[in-house]
Formats: sequence, structure tokens, C-alpha cells
Amino acid sequence: MLVDGKPFRTIWPNTDGSVGIIDQTRLPHEFETLTLRDMPAAAKAIKTMIVRGAPLIGATAAYGMALAMAEDPSDAGLAAAYDSLYATRPTAVNLRWALDDLRARLSALPPAERAAAAWKRAAEIADEDVAICEAIGDHGLKLIEEAAARKPGETVQILTHCNAGWLATVDWGTATAPIYKAHDAGIPVHVWVDETRPRNQGASLTCWELGRHGVPHTLVVDNAGGHLMQRGQVDLCIVGTDRTVANGDVCNKIGTYLKALAAAAHNVPFYVALPSPTIDWRLTDGFAIPIEERAESEVTEMWGKTPEGALTRVRITPETTPGANPAFDVTPAALVTALITERGVCAASTEGLAGLFPDHAKAA
Ligand code: MRU
Repeated sequence: MLVDGKPFRTIWPNTDGSVGIIDQTRLPHEFETLTLRDMPAAAKAIKTMIVRGAPLIGATAAYGMALAMAEDPSDAGLAAAYDSLYATRPTAVNLRWALDDLRARLSALPPAERAAAAWKRAAEIADEDVAICEAIGDHGLKLIEEAAARKPGETVQILTHCNAGWLATVDWGTATAPIYKAHDAGIPVHVWVDETRPRNQGASLTCWELGRHGVPHTLVVDNAGGHLMQRGQVDLCIVGTDRTVANGDVCNKIGTYLKALAAAAHNVPFYVALPSPTIDWRLTDGFAIPIEERAESEVTEMWGKTPEGALTRVRITPETTPGANPAFDVTPAALVTALITERGVCAASTEGLAGLFPDHAKAA
């Protein structure tokens, strides 16, 4: 997507053997790029959420393997890189998917050939992610067109949670891809953006990228979604996912489940944009997904920008109040209207997913 008129992806290889990324912890206040020069830097960027979002975590892990192979392509180096990168974040399955893919390809090669193969495969994974997200956009566009046809001349109101935008992927985004496609096609859309406490990816990242692309949007507190749906102010919800299992249960940023419950109560279609590397074919029950527990300081403190322009943290609770910080929740498949994948739209069910991905379903 464009940033100040210049096309950007969220991750890119540099000619000197390093990797460029956008520092997402500085947005929306500052747009800064960073350079990853070795595997530990890639692991740290994932762990500290300088990069985040399931598909981008996978792409960063792939480039992390390439950085590792440039330094130590031995079997021991390969195993150590896999373990370090795998330990960064537990929920988004794209991490394991990318690491398994790289390890399987690289371990079949002599060490001298591993670095070149890893760089090539990391670039392919990034390119594939862009193509997958664009295809999700094309399939999801049809759902927005249908919603627009139900209210001619009026704006289609879409609610999204967290950031499943281009910043969470390599480009396009998953939940945002249909929105960008609809906006670009001249369909009037407006997006309700959940702030997404505690890290505020909606407020900081989704608002930033929608604004840069000119998509009309409004920030709401996480608790507003039910009210908006009850008043008929939401035509459809589209969210992303960090891991969807073979029966269609969806794990996504904490708070997604509450939106799905409200959507079901008010007959608002609830769609999940799902790239296939985010499907965990090994699991058949969403409650088996590991839920990341993050630092309580993310709950008890907030980041903000002072009038003087400094980024600073402030405490919002009494000093002694503890905070709990489960970062994801599971929305049962029954609450999901449909999954929007790169192969088309399907029911959130074993049959629905197996129908679109018979090859993967059989191999699992
Ligand atoms: O903790 P984060 O910011 O990595 O969580 C991101 C989300 O929950 C997104 O909705 C999800 O990764 C989908 S990304 C296209």
C-alpha cells in the first residue's frame, strides 16, 4: 500500500543481506523503518510486537531463518534458529507453518545451499501472502457488493476488530482487503474500528492505514459494538484470525468472541477473513489453541503522545491492582457466518473447509 505516495510492504529484503520492516510500535505517531541484521533481531521484533499480525509473523520468521542460515547453515544452526523463532509467540499458527516449511526444505539440502534457498523461499512466502490477501479481497468484495445491493444509495457499515489490515500481513490485509477493494470500486463504505485494548491495534494501526488509504472510518471503544449492532448501525463484521482449526473454530484477538455474540444476537453477518496458512489442520477443537498471556503492564498502563510530542506510558489503575492479559479468544464456528479464504467463501465447519481445501484436509 502507499505511505505518503510511496509503495510499501511491511517486510522486504535489502540488497546488503538485511531485512527491512516497519516499526509498528511507533504508529500512528511516527512512521519509522528498522533493519533486521540477524536472526535474534527478527525473533525480538516478533516477540516485542514491532511486527505482529499472523501472516506477518510468519513472513518475519521465514526471513529470520534466512538471516540465520547466512550465519550458520549447519544442522545445529538450523535447529537453533527454528527453536528461537518458534518460542516468540504461541497463538498465530503462521509462525509454525512458515518455520516447518523452511525447515523441511532446508534440511533436505547441503548446508552450503541453505542460505540461498532460505532467502528465495522467504521471498516466495511474502509474495504468496500478498496474492492470498488480494484473492481474499476479491471474494470478500462480493459480500460487500451484496450488502450494498440491499441498501441502494446508502453506505455499507462494516465493523472490524484489532488490526487485520495490511500492517498485519505483507500487503492488503485479510479483513481489510475486501474493504479496500470495495472502496476502490466506488462502493460507499464506512468502518467502525474497535480500539482493541489493551494494545490498541485498532486505534493505532487500523485507523492509521484506513486513513492513509482514504477509507471513511470511526474509532469506537471496544464496548460499543453491541450497541451499534442493536441499533442497526452495522451491516456486517469482518475480522481476521490468528489460528482457525479444522472444524471452523476461530481464534483471534481478545474481544472478537464478544463481537460475534452480539452479531449473532442481532442477525449481523460475522465474517472471518482466513488465509490458508492460518488454518491449523492438526487441531479440530478451537479450545486446544494455546492462548498467549501477555504482560499485565499492558493492561494497567497505556501508551500515548503528550502535547509536547513525547511518547509516554501512564498508569491507569491503583498501584496495587493486578491485571490479567489473555491476548486472544476463541469464537466457536457456530457464531461465524462464513470464512473468506483465498479459494472462496465457505461455511465455518469441517465440511466447509474440507470442501475448499481437500488436499490439506486429507493430509492432516
Ligand atoms: O497480537 P497481534 O497484534 O499480533 O494480533 C493480531 C490479530 O489478532 C489479527 O486480527 C490477526 O493476526 C489477523 S491478521 C491478518
